[in-house]
Amino acid sequence: MKKVFAKIISAGLILTMGLSMASCASKKSMTVKKGKLVMATNAYFPPYEYYDNSTIVGIDAEIAAAVAKKLDLELEIQDVEFDSIIAGVQSNKYDIGMAGMTVTEERKKAINFTDTYATGVQVVIVPENSEITDVDTLLNGDYKVGVQTGTTGDIYMSDDIGDDRVVRFSKGNDAVLALSTGKVDAVVIDNEPAKSFVASNEGLKILDTAYVEEQYAMCVNKDNTELLEKINTALKELTEDGTIPAIIEKYIPSNG
Ligand code: ARG
Repeated sequence: MKKVFAKIISAGLILTMGLSMASCASKKSMTVKKGKLVMATNAYFPPYEYYDNSTIVGIDAEIAAAVAKKLDLELEIQDVEFDSIIAGVQSNKYDIGMAGMTVTEERKKAINFTDTYATGVQVVIVPENSEITDVDTLLNGDYKVGVQTGTTGDIYMSDDIGDDRVVRFSKGNDAVLALSTGKVDAVVIDNEPAKSFVASNEGLKILDTAYVEEQYAMCVNKDNTELLEKINTALKELTEDGTIPAIIEKYIPSNG
């Protein structure tokens, strides 16, 4: 009798343990910090993310804030090296990466991308008096090209002209500075930051011929499909109600 009783108790115990483990698994938090949406970015990429005094502003910062609000979460932005964002999202250090980040098949192996919210173009910046007049001249010559480490500019350039001619910088504006001081012959970077860097550095211009066209999206941990779906729904609603178009228009006026 005693034995049977003990058995029933232990069976009951195992059942409760199993149940609570199952509920733990299903309750696995959607975000890293309770009630917060932690976003990793690299905030030297105007107009997507940049500092206004000590605040990070820009298209990505504002879209992320609008998404966080829809999800009833508080947005926390962390400024990190661009090439550490994907690893940080993979290891659940950050909930999302949002940094004018281009959707690529290679990156999709490591993380999931949300629906895209913007288009980017890789362009070439050269000194005004440069003999580099188009992308082909750049590729076929012996020129050194500055890029931001780990960006698509870096990846495509390294593929097309080889590592030896690519000079990597941790920030896009450092690459542009190196161009201004003649340390590199050209910089390959996204069009909107390029416009902003050219406007604030004298003697530089953007070549008319584009290098590659791309789509921007946020990235999310592959296991966090719940967050991915919620963000996609929020992005859809914010596009339909005009919020996202208005944010983009604010930073990239279509008539300007
Ligand atoms: N679109 C490019 C890429 O995904 C460059 C992005 C750089 N972003 C930044 N916030 N610094 O590789």
